Amino acid sequence: MRVFPLEPSAEELEVQTRAVADFVLSQLRGLAAQPSFDTEDAEAVQAAFDEPPPEQPTPLPALLARLAPAIAKSYNTAGPGYLAYIPGGGVYAAALADFVACAVNRYVGVAQAAPALAQIEETATSWLGRLMGLPAGARGILTSGGSLSTLAAVVTARHARLGEDFQDGVLYFSEETHYCVPKAARLAGFPRRGLRALPTDSRLRLEPAALDAAIREDRAHGRRPFLVVANVGTTNTGAIDPLPQILAVARAHGLWVHADAAYGGFFRLAPGGEDLLRGIEACDSITLDPHKGLFLPYGLGALLVRDGDALASVHREGASYVQDVTRSGALGFADVSPELSRDFRGLRLWLPLMLHGLPAFREQLQEKLALARWAHAELASDGHFELLDEPQLSVVAFRLRAPAEAADRLGPELLERVNARRRVFLSSTRIHGRYALRICVLSFRTHEERVRDAVLALRQEARALLG
Ligand SMILES: Cc1ncc(COP(=O)(O)O)c(C=O)c1O
Repeated sequence: MRVFPLEPSAEELEVQTRAVADFVLSQLRGLAAQPSFDTEDAEAVQAAFDEPPPEQPTPLPALLARLAPAIAKSYNTAGPGYLAYIPGGGVYAAALADFVACAVNRYVGVAQAAPALAQIEETATSWLGRLMGLPAGARGILTSGGSLSTLAAVVTARHARLGEDFQDGVLYFSEETHYCVPKAARLAGFPRRGLRALPTDSRLRLEPAALDAAIREDRAHGRRPFLVVANVGTTNTGAIDPLPQILAVARAHGLWVHADAAYGGFFRLAPGGEDLLRGIEACDSITLDPHKGLFLPYGLGALLVRDGDALASVHREGASYVQDVTRSGALGFADVSPELSRDFRGLRLWLPLMLHGLPAFREQLQEKLALARWAHAELASDGHFELLDEPQLSVVAFRLRAPAEAADRLGPELLERVNARRRVFLSSTRIHGRYALRICVLSFRTHEERVRDAVLALRQEARALLG
């Protein structure tokens, strides 16, 4: 009998599956005890993977054995000590969902090819719209992350507000806005002269009056303002732009309002969240990152659009070779998003939500807000630190309390010393040109003990640096 190695026997499949399951479980078991980062001598491990294509097969155990050090030599983004950038952790149920989705490999790009699976994704995406308070006519798409959602948002708003000739279009955002916004604008075909990064107030929020003035100025010069991107949780400090006022200015001038809620949006689920994020429900579109605030593994973003038809209007195309699967006229994901063939990513949203239920997520989000407030209070009570704002969400930004030159010079050293303990991993930024450190509490694996470790390390190392 001929043997086709790409189709292992049932017994081999079982052995392989168990080997991978054992490997993954051993990775997870050690997670809390692993260092918060370990990239020392990573180059040697990296170099071993720079290799020619394999002409010979390699047994799976040997391949898994090679992966172990590659995983270890990294920032431990899945662990409880990861407080840098924007964490999430990676809820395990999503890995199970991906495993199922890849193994059964059904096609969800067109609804007719797997109607019930497409419905699972449609339903899970519509839950996101409901959680953000969007009305029934809203529609969403799942993307690989916030950057791609933002690109689809800018293109959708461009099409809805400017049509095909858009070089004189102008879009507005704050200086604190994530760089994926200007990047999306450039990818969407806007020259830099059409991008306005506006100054912020003392809490690093977009100022509606400055927005209004900028729009008027552009109008007076014959340009076409069409879009404002409001922050619902900036990466630097978690600042939330004043949505109701921004909406009022934008409405008065006929602009599309997009909320970058990649980091902050899911806090609407926490107690008091609707007040905190007041106005998000009235935006024209929203970027959300389930791989941040829903704690899923990297690779899942979402774009929600209030007028669902706007998505189809810009994305829909047709061709004769898909006539068999498009006859019904029902919109598939390919009709409302840039992609055609892609993974069945809806399952990695649906399965964790169904398996754990929303309260499990709400509880986590509430805990993260409380931990950030606690860390803020602790650092604020220590004379060695200058806190840059009350946490608006779950980010605490601060610097050493010292003359500007010394604080900026010693800040990186403080970061290095704290991270060198390998219990937590923090990152830094610049705010108004000055160095700042930040703690972002968002992983579902981060609890009080680890935030205490971060605060303790900061206090001890700051004392050592400042005396
Ligand atoms: C506020 C905000 N917007 C957008 C993004 C971009 O999202 P992604 O990294 O998923 O492309 C990020 C990423 O950290 C973010 O924090």
